[in-house]
Amino acid sequence: MDLQAEINKRKTFAIISHPDAGKTTLTEKFLLFGGAILTAGAVKSNKIKKTATSDFMEIEKQRGISVATSVMGFEYKGRKINILDTPGHKDFAEDTYRTLTAVDSVILVIDCVKGVEEQTEKLMGVCRMRNIPVIIFINKMDREGKDPFDLLDEVEAKLNIKVHPLSWPISQGQTFQGVYNLYHKSLNLFTSNKTKLSDDIFSVADLNDPILAQKLKEEYLNKLKEDVELVDGVYSRFDVKNYLDGSTAPVFFGSAINNFGIQELLDTFIEFAPPPIDREATERMVQATEPKFSGFVFKIHANLDPNHRDRIAFLRICSGRFERNKFYQHTRLNKQLRFTSPTSFMANEKNIIEEAYPGDVIGLYDSGNFKIGDTITEGETLHFRGIPSFSPEIFKELVNKDPLKSKQLDKGINQLTDEGVAQLFTQQPGNRKIVGTVGDLQFEVLQFRLQHEYGASCEFRMAPFTKACWVTCDDPAKLATFLEQKERSIAYDKDGDPVFLADSDWALNMAMEYFGDIKFHFTSEHKTATEQTA
Ligand code: G4P
Repeated sequence: MDLQAEINKRKTFAIISHPDAGKTTLTEKFLLFGGAILTAGAVKSNKIKKTATSDFMEIEKQRGISVATSVMGFEYKGRKINILDTPGHKDFAEDTYRTLTAVDSVILVIDCVKGVEEQTEKLMGVCRMRNIPVIIFINKMDREGKDPFDLLDEVEAKLNIKVHPLSWPISQGQTFQGVYNLYHKSLNLFTSNKTKLSDDIFSVADLNDPILAQKLKEEYLNKLKEDVELVDGVYSRFDVKNYLDGSTAPVFFGSAINNFGIQELLDTFIEFAPPPIDREATERMVQATEPKFSGFVFKIHANLDPNHRDRIAFLRICSGRFERNKFYQHTRLNKQLRFTSPTSFMANEKNIIEEAYPGDVIGLYDSGNFKIGDTITEGETLHFRGIPSFSPEIFKELVNKDPLKSKQLDKGINQLTDEGVAQLFTQQPGNRKIVGTVGDLQFEVLQFRLQHEYGASCEFRMAPFTKACWVTCDDPAKLATFLEQKERSIAYDKDGDPVFLADSDWALNMAMEYFGDIKFHFTSEHKTATEQTA
């Protein structure tokens, strides 16, 4: 098969949701439909329950589970589908943001009872930043939820995206009858059944088709006709182009636990969703169809076995054909590397692969060469964009509790921050190590892993900061003055770039106002942008 055909076959996406909306259930149902698993319950929920936040074994278990389910590939109707899993726990939000850089589209699950929740808003914010095409699945229609029109209004208002229902629910909760597919003109009747794998779908000519009157009670049919008239009035004609440019999200209704509406969703997904898209590198746009291979690392996972310190780097292929045992260029290290056992992830299995194509995610064994965001090519220098570090929200100082183990601690914290568990900043005088994260749970993970994997014992002391901004200035002298005057609030990131640590929004605003020439950056994205203009 040629490269173009391989690319057209692939759909790489993530399912995102606020915890408990039904992401795990939907993922599992997709795998069931794809024949990748045979029974429900095979995909473990990879969420850490609130009560388990201090249970270290839970953290370890979570890490074990999440590597197995990080990427789930399966074949469906001649397509190769790659689902990239995202952690549900909010303390791992940064992991999720980075995973979103490696997908071409997203399915967002919303619980019809709860509507748009906090994590839904945050995750969609990231999708909107990058105009990722989004399909919305309104789940749990077997429960009494919000009115569908109100729900869609809420989605538009809170998520800042236009929506377009492609199916419409007929009642809900106890009296849920099913959905009417507005796009393909069909009736999909609901039965509460967790094991059946196909929907009862009837094609209809229009809403006056006698089959509807046969299958639905008069009251439901009348309400459906009223609703559809309103839908037609409110939402203009659906155009796939608006989905692909990220401006309109098609919406489906269903019940994941009952396998209802899943096939409709999956079939529409493979019809609409984009194949591997072209990717922006600092140097130029890289087209998926280019014959030369390129890809980037968006996730690094440590080996759970302490006797094998190597890690797995997850590489998203952006262009060309990847081949096992061929030498490739590591752009940041300017070094040739060869991968003897690259793995693919098919559902819960890991297999060594000979080749892989754009859209695929492969696992590379790594003995410490990789950092998140690293690019691999056939020789060209490329830096893929859109994999920034975000400004952390919680800052703590790392304090060594065993001076004899300071080397181990240094090595450990460096490697763990390369994996993206947290960000490391160094402050002078005294080389104080300030660790920044988006959630408290990371500090527990760090402390546990430093002790168990590196034999280093440490504690974290609260540091009085609330925000970190990278600072730059066109005039080096002005930057030097700023760094000198704000010395107590300045630290350096792992690349040696200066970061302003603010102890309050007020202090940050004051600094921004007073030092008008200094640019404050809330993500590290500007670094690649600067290189482009340099
Ligand atoms: P998440 O990954 O987004 O966190 O959600 P998950 O799939 O784990 O689903 C959260 C809860 O919602 C689960 O119940 C699941 O069974 C339930 N659920 C998922 N889809 C539907 C649906 O269509 N209708 C209804 N009524 N419930 C649904 P749980 O009690 O937390 O877990 P479990 O004991 O069922 O595994």
